[in-house]
Amino acid sequence: MEAFLIHGGKPLRGKVTVSGAKNSVLPLMAAALLTPEPCVLEGVPRLRDVSTMVSLLKALGAQVTWKGERITIQAAGLSSMEAPYELVKTMRASILVLGPMVGRFCKAKISLPGGCAIGVRPIDLHLKALERLGTRVTLEEGYVVATCNMLHGNTIYFDKVTVTGTENILMASSLAKGETILENCAKEPEVQELAQVLRCMGASIEGEGTDTMHIRGVKGLKGYHHRVMPDRIEAATLLIAGAITGGDVRVEGVIPHHLEAVTQKLKEAGIKLNIEDRAIEVKGSCRPKAVDITTLPYPGFPTDVQAQFMALMSIAHGTSVITEMIFENRFLHAAELQRMGAQIKVEGNKAVVEGIETLKGAPVMATDLRASASLVLAGLAAKGESRISRIYHLDRGYERLDRKLIALGAKIERIKEDWP
Ligand code: UD1
Repeated sequence: MEAFLIHGGKPLRGKVTVSGAKNSVLPLMAAALLTPEPCVLEGVPRLRDVSTMVSLLKALGAQVTWKGERITIQAAGLSSMEAPYELVKTMRASILVLGPMVGRFCKAKISLPGGCAIGVRPIDLHLKALERLGTRVTLEEGYVVATCNMLHGNTIYFDKVTVTGTENILMASSLAKGETILENCAKEPEVQELAQVLRCMGASIEGEGTDTMHIRGVKGLKGYHHRVMPDRIEAATLLIAGAITGGDVRVEGVIPHHLEAVTQKLKEAGIKLNIEDRAIEVKGSCRPKAVDITTLPYPGFPTDVQAQFMALMSIAHGTSVITEMIFENRFLHAAELQRMGAQIKVEGNKAVVEGIETLKGAPVMATDLRASASLVLAGLAAKGESRISRIYHLDRGYERLDRKLIALGAKIERIKEDWP
């Protein structure tokens, strides 16, 4: 396994460009299963989750080539209808093949994702919605088996806002007979991008970015050629890296509008930001002020930035309250930040962070993707050396974060580490 050795306490300076959005690439790759025509995706980041999706699509029988930043997928037909446990267990987003497979082939057998470090994360809403479209769903030996004769449009109300749930049903209903109305659907930019690409493929979709979407099913879809949008979570992480080290960092290739909830909170914390059309510059000249955050579905503050913001608040002036509304058990990073001296008390879905002047380097362990990012940020701000173990979590969703940070002046070494 690999770990990071970070010598912190150095302000980051310079320019950095964000990579393509992981949470867009994954559903867009799954959408290629909706058509026999080739689909070309540009700007694809080198991430472990993308490799897992490539393996999954290949296991189903799709032809996939990945050269540089371009992925081409063609699913003329599928040789298997089964998404195996070995792949699904490493990436929950594997569930995204369910909607397209049922939509086009009327059959899918997908391993249940199971638990993960940040909570139970069920898929009941995906399954209920597919049933509303006429799918029979059974659970057999740890697998979800979904079959239908033909999907029929229906009205679906999501009890809870679910990103991949909305995406799955958007893809399935694009090929259903008649009209589907999705209510209380996710409005994340990644969902909107998927709707736009599906429309380019010939789907009839209206209302993305609002609570209600209307989908009129069509008989078949064409291929697509699309450049994926920038990753707003990576952008937020890089901005916080600038802020937490008191540096001067220009993050390029971003869509500032996607980051409003985060930039507003950074400004409230007294961080100086210069927001342009496609770039944001952060100037962290002084210690941030404590501010409270509550995670919510988009356009609210993203749960995927909660851990990184907690790292920032751990060196703020004053006490902040961080409320996690999306996932239970998404505070595992708090205990690791405490090892670096952070003063954090977790009570249910709230973390009370009493800011201290400086963190101290310590050996810590990454527990999930965004938790790893928060520990890297804390390590960059801390005095002395931090060792962050299990950074494979980080490589799932950040493209060469260590190299990008090193280019900004960070002292980070990627080392091999033995684990029992
Ligand atoms: C997606 C993102 C993830 C992000 C999350 C919330 C991708 C690939 N992943 O995950 O990075 O953290 O959105 O913004 O885009 N829920 C149910 N039943 C379901 C589905 C969800 O109860 O069938 C609950 C979940 O447990 C959670 C909430 O709904 O409490 C939101 O989860 P959801 O939006 O579905 O997260 P993902 O789509 O898995």
